[in-house]
Amino acid sequence: MSTYYITTPIYYINDVPHLGSAYTTVACDVLKRYHALRGDDAFFLTGTDEHGLKIQRAAAERGMSPKELADEVSRVFEETWPKLGCEPNDFIRTSSARHQHGVQELWRRIAAKGDIYLGHYEGLYCVGCEAYYTEKELEQPGNRCPLHKTAAETVKEESYFFRLANYGERLLRFYEENPAFVEPEGRMNEVKSFVAGGLQDLSVSRTTFDWGVPVPGDPRHVMYVWFDALSNYWTALQEPPSRGRYWPASVHVVGKDILRFHAIYWPAFLMAAGFSDAELPRKVLAHGFLTYGGHKMSKSLRNTVSPVALAEAVSPTVGVDVVRYCLMRSISFGQDGDFSIDDVLGRYGTDLGNTFGNLLHRIHPFAGETLAPANDGPLETGLREAARTAARAAAEAFDASSPTRALEAIWVGLMLANAYIDKTAPWAARKQGDEARVSHIVTAMAEVLEAYTVMVAPVMPKVAALMREQLGATVLVPQVGHDSWPFELPTRAAGSRLVKGEPVFPRHDKDVAAALKEQFSPPPETKTPREDAVAAKTAPLAPEPNGAAVETKPAISYDDFAKLDLRVGVIVSAERILRKDRLLDLLVEVGEAQPRRIIAGIALAYTPEELRGKRIAVLCNLAPREFGKGLVSHGMLMAASHGELLKLVAVPEELPAGSPIK
Ligand code: MSP
Repeated sequence: MSTYYITTPIYYINDVPHLGSAYTTVACDVLKRYHALRGDDAFFLTGTDEHGLKIQRAAAERGMSPKELADEVSRVFEETWPKLGCEPNDFIRTSSARHQHGVQELWRRIAAKGDIYLGHYEGLYCVGCEAYYTEKELEQPGNRCPLHKTAAETVKEESYFFRLANYGERLLRFYEENPAFVEPEGRMNEVKSFVAGGLQDLSVSRTTFDWGVPVPGDPRHVMYVWFDALSNYWTALQEPPSRGRYWPASVHVVGKDILRFHAIYWPAFLMAAGFSDAELPRKVLAHGFLTYGGHKMSKSLRNTVSPVALAEAVSPTVGVDVVRYCLMRSISFGQDGDFSIDDVLGRYGTDLGNTFGNLLHRIHPFAGETLAPANDGPLETGLREAARTAARAAAEAFDASSPTRALEAIWVGLMLANAYIDKTAPWAARKQGDEARVSHIVTAMAEVLEAYTVMVAPVMPKVAALMREQLGATVLVPQVGHDSWPFELPTRAAGSRLVKGEPVFPRHDKDVAAALKEQFSPPPETKTPREDAVAAKTAPLAPEPNGAAVETKPAISYDDFAKLDLRVGVIVSAERILRKDRLLDLLVEVGEAQPRRIIAGIALAYTPEELRGKRIAVLCNLAPREFGKGLVSHGMLMAASHGELLKLVAVPEELPAGSPIK
């Protein structure tokens, strides 16, 4: 027996749970359930990330205190997960006293080692405006404020800094010794090259707002939200019965957008707090995004789907499991994947109804009859071998944190089980009066089906329980120290029976299916890439209606072209800019020590959420350009436009940031 500690990121409370955030939580729940079935002492943590200026402002706008807003939204998260069949063992809130004590304790340990120091930001400040200005924005001579006409003062704002730069070497050594620390592998390389490029100390406190954890000994400062948030994985385990039992985390499951925080900052904070390499988290598993109509599902794009509403609409009894199955089956772990109602309906009818549910349905006519095991013939041997192979392959895939591959392996076995029933045709044996043969077939089938219910249980616990009931099998209860995985198939005692029950996946009638399609099709403004392509083919992509030719420019020499410093970039962060509707404020990694700040006029074409993590082409040596007070862009993204359409030039995933484009 070993312990298995798995975590979701803690969710921001400026949103409510949607199918995208449900994806991460369901994936963790599936892996936790698998490990519990294997006999591990499994612990699954989730929670909410509640501090920061955004929440303080949102609360003020609603006339509430930040804590009141946090209580309200956090409760929605806590209540939603069980509705999706998720059973976290604990739910941590960053505004809770236990978290605050823990995070202050970590801070103290790091500060005691001398790795947190007080520094400052420095800038020209106009007290009248309560804002920083650059020299260029001020009137010269005398650095006068354009509004108040008074001289701006040089102001230093205090901030605590963490000596991140001191941890580059140890991090690189740790990655070398633990090559599977980040998965998938490609993401490990990204992290390594970022660290190898050199790390800078990190500002870890703020004085401009107070909705946060106070810095020990200096309550004028609150902690940087990521220092506060990452610590949850440790602070949640500081009280009995989990204290001293589950640390370090076996897996932090995270979206690819927040990989760097988990793979660089988090281990560095822990190292600084005195944790040995053996006490650091074992793995950070980065998954892709769930898209809807081709765009990342997110609140700001208004293309979210409520997982609970979807589940209820698909099936009042097992809809939750259907949603869990589709999330885990259709989106290859690590890749982006598009949610579509057609996919859900297709899988409901085919994978779940025809291939899985039907197996039970085909032996149902014999329910209530006494089962009688007999000596296997070659067909039974094949049936059982297929189930054992599925059990082995699925375990291997779950061990490698790949629910998608596990389900694929299980469905190979289920298809072979259908072929077995086709060949043996118990109804024909009955017609011929061969009752012994009928019992033998039904018994063999019931035994392997019972094994398959265990294999699907991590993903579809409710379906597994319903099917086991109809199979007349015991309730499946994971026990610490007992491996319930069906490497060996169960055997039925002579005289046991199947129990008749309702079909688990009844067919949708046509009207219901049409209504579901109507309700869950992507909103019109987020067409699928295919629809975009079709529209593009039929509509104005070719010459403009007036036949205007493409603009040509005079030829340039290769030397002129070679002056362009064009590189692959990866967008690290993307934020909207207040009162600048067309602009986005981006940090783009282009293979240098620090990401570059680029201001891009693409806010009408892209949301910040869909840009984070995107690989793009960047012109790096365009002279810095100013877009307004403090908004200086250090480069330009390459994009193509056609009429209203504006698209960033795409770059293949394999190319690391900084690769030259020539
Ligand atoms: N609060 C931080 C995490 C702090 S962890 C110490 C945060 N919160 S979040 O609410 O924005 O995102 C939480 C998780 O949900 C991230 O892993 C993110 O990638 C994931 N997802 C949000 N939308 C998603 C999709 N559309 N698809 C897949 N995952 C999505 O980041």
